[in-house]
Amino acid sequence: MLICVPGVLSKDDVAEFRRIMDGCAWEDGRSTAGAQSALVKSNEQLPPDGEVSRKLGNRILSVLTANPRFISAAIPLQIFPPLFNRYAAADGHHFGIHVDNAVRGDRLTGLRIRTDLSVTLFLAEPDEYDGGELVVEDLYGSHEVKLPAGDLVLYPASSLHMVTPVTRGRRVASFFWLQSMVRDAHARSLIFDLDCAIQSLCERLGRDDPETVKLTGIYHNLIRHWAEV
Ligand code: NI
Repeated sequence: MLICVPGVLSKDDVAEFRRIMDGCAWEDGRSTAGAQSALVKSNEQLPPDGEVSRKLGNRILSVLTANPRFISAAIPLQIFPPLFNRYAAADGHHFGIHVDNAVRGDRLTGLRIRTDLSVTLFLAEPDEYDGGELVVEDLYGSHEVKLPAGDLVLYPASSLHMVTPVTRGRRVASFFWLQSMVRDAHARSLIFDLDCAIQSLCERLGRDDPETVKLTGIYHNLIRHWAEV
C-alpha cells in the first residue's frame, strides 16, 4: 500500500532546505547502493555522514515524530537517518527498477534496521521538472508518484520501484527507510484503516462516544497483539 502524507515540511522549510543544499558538494549516488541497484542508479547525493545531511535529516525526523498520519501509517520503531538526492535532466539521471536492501546500518550511530517501509519526501515542486516519477509496483500494478514539495510517500521497501529519467529541470528529494513495530504489511494496513475510521467517527460523535471508545480499545489491542518493540 502506498500512503501519502501531505505538508510534512512547510514551503518555507522546503525553500530553506533547498538553499542549504544548493551550497553543498554532492557525490555520486552509488555510494549507498547495493550491488544490483548500483548498476541501474544514476543520481547525486549529499554525503550521508556529512553535517548537512544529519542536520536537515534531524529536522525531518523531529517533524515526522509529531505527524499523526505518518505515525499511524508507519508505526515506526526506528527511522534511518534521512538521505538527500537529486536527479538532473542535464546528466540524464534516473534510477532503474530495483528492490531496496533488506537491512541498513548507519556508520555513525551503529543503528541497524530492517527496512519495512521506504520513504520519499519531495523537495522540488512538480512543475520544476519533467519525468522523475517514482514508480512503485505492487499486486495491483504500477503506481506513479510525484508529489508537491513538502509531501512524502510511504511504500513497501520490498516492492520493485524506480525513478523515471528526468528530462527537464531537477528533482530533489529526501529518502530513507524505517522499521515498523508491526512487521506484517497487511496487519499494518488494517491498523491504519481502522485508525482512519476511528478518527472520522471521533469527529462526528466525539471522543467520549461509547462505541468510539470501544473501537479505540480494539485499535490499541491490535497493536499490542502485533507490535514488536
Ligand atoms: Ni530504492
